[in-house]
Amino acid sequence: MSLVKKNSLHSLLPAFMLLLVTTMIADSQGDDNLGTKVMVEVNNSLPGDASFNIHCKSKDDDLGIHIIGVYQNYKFKFKVNFWATTLFFCGIRWQGGGVTFDIYYAKRDLNRCPHHCLWLVREVGVMGFQQDKPTPDIIIPWDN
Ligand SMILES: *[C@@H]1O[C@H](CO)[C@@H](O)[C@H](O)[C@H]1NC(C)=O
Repeated sequence: MSLVKKNSLHSLLPAFMLLLVTTMIADSQGDDNLGTKVMVEVNNSLPGDASFNIHCKSKDDDLGIHIIGVYQNYKFKFKVNFWATTLFFCGIRWQGGGVTFDIYYAKRDLNRCPHHCLWLVREVGVMGFQQDKPTPDIIIPWDN
């Protein structure tokens, strides 16, 4: 009895492995980074002593509204889901304007910033950096 069970399990294993590998390849785009922890960091680089409000959400989580003062920063951590559909979007507002944007989107960011995604909130807008790069590759100007 147990021998039969064992055999049927063994015959299923290759099929399961094939399915797993095929799924991972189909979903790829840097799949080594799936399931790893990502930290998003948003620094206040506004002029003077200006502060900003930030409100980030994903499909499942509302991270709440936070007021980030001069020299402060805002951070959150999460794991990228297996399907690489992880998405966080934020609204940021200060006295000079506001903007809503995707702060982390796995399809864009899995390789762009695998563990540390830095954003600076500046007078001209919000700037995003690839991991360990000194110049921003994304600049989002204030809407108003
Ligand atoms: C962002 O803020 C953190 C905490 O204050 C600081 O350690 C880091 O150097 C800042 N990064 C930049 C690029 O301003």
